[in-house]
Amino acid sequence: MKSQKKRMLSGMQPSGRLHLGNLLGALDNWIKYQRDYDAYFFVADWHALSTNYADTHKIREYVQEMLIDWLSAGIDPEKCTVFIQSRLPEHAVLHLLLSMITPVPWLERNPTYKEKIEELRERDLTTYGFLGYPVLQSADILIYKADVVPVGVDQLPHLELTRELARRFNNLYKTVFPEPQPLLTEVPKLLGTDGRKMSKSYNNAIYLSDPEPVVREKLRTMVTDPARIRRTDPGNPDVCPVFSYHKIFSEIGVVDRVNTECRTAAIGCIDCKKLVADRMVHRLDPIWKEREKWVKHPKKVETVVTEGTKKAGQVARQTLDEVREAMKI
Ligand code: TRP
Ligand code: SF4
Repeated sequence: MKSQKKRMLSGMQPSGRLHLGNLLGALDNWIKYQRDYDAYFFVADWHALSTNYADTHKIREYVQEMLIDWLSAGIDPEKCTVFIQSRLPEHAVLHLLLSMITPVPWLERNPTYKEKIEELRERDLTTYGFLGYPVLQSADILIYKADVVPVGVDQLPHLELTRELARRFNNLYKTVFPEPQPLLTEVPKLLGTDGRKMSKSYNNAIYLSDPEPVVREKLRTMVTDPARIRRTDPGNPDVCPVFSYHKIFSEIGVVDRVNTECRTAAIGCIDCKKLVADRMVHRLDPIWKEREKWVKHPKKVETVVTEGTKKAGQVARQTLDEVREAMKI
């Protein structure tokens, strides 16, 4: 039976354990969408090679950690299809076929391409694979004929290229691919414990897999309004990253209370942090409970992926047949 729902697909590179920024920025949306769409979520481990080809020894471990984070947070294999990119060679075949019709200047002008090369200047990213990153991404998307792709703004150029490639293919051969639409969800960037953007590379992240004492300790030592030195100094919540957490995790009454009492030094930072720590623990607790189940039964994770790969493979092979037919190859 063909699903009446629109098809959604998204992927994440396996870059290690997921943090709260990833949860609020992407995963929470995926979890919401899995009810309303025929959703496919996959770990993009080939994409990880594009920047990490020289050091691959952690990739498998990261794939596993990411799957456990997804499943613990609420990605439900009963509702969506979960798989690993590298188990489906069909993606690679479509990548090759699309590469034949991709003008190199389309790839070179991609702003994400230029930015990444700048950002990772210590690595040699002059590779063919890195340039072709968005072609592989296009293959990931088009092979499922996805209608919508939830992504962050940084991925918009890739989505644009995907649509251009779909059009070019359809014009050259035969209409096979729908043009996928990005689904942008603006989420405020979550700050890390040092007040900068939460990021694995800044060492300021709170991970979904951090045990409760670690979460509490990270909050206890988190930076506050730097001008508030003594307990008796009034503070300014507007410049305090702890307050930004209150706005996300605390009830509105508590947010209002902190907002006034900080400014008059009626509340101290220790108590203020304790309040938000309790809320964060409350939010993470169900994830920790779920995690225990998956960590204890790695076979269950494998079953999810095996089933997901089987289901995704059927769709992918069907599309690939149409592609070969259209290209007469
Ligand atoms: N490039 C995406 C990222 O880094 C990961 C990705 C690979 C992806 N293939 C995809 C996302 C297909 C959406 C659809 O976040
Ligand atoms: Fe920040 Fe809370 Fe301290 Fe105010 S009381 S400076 S909001 S931690």
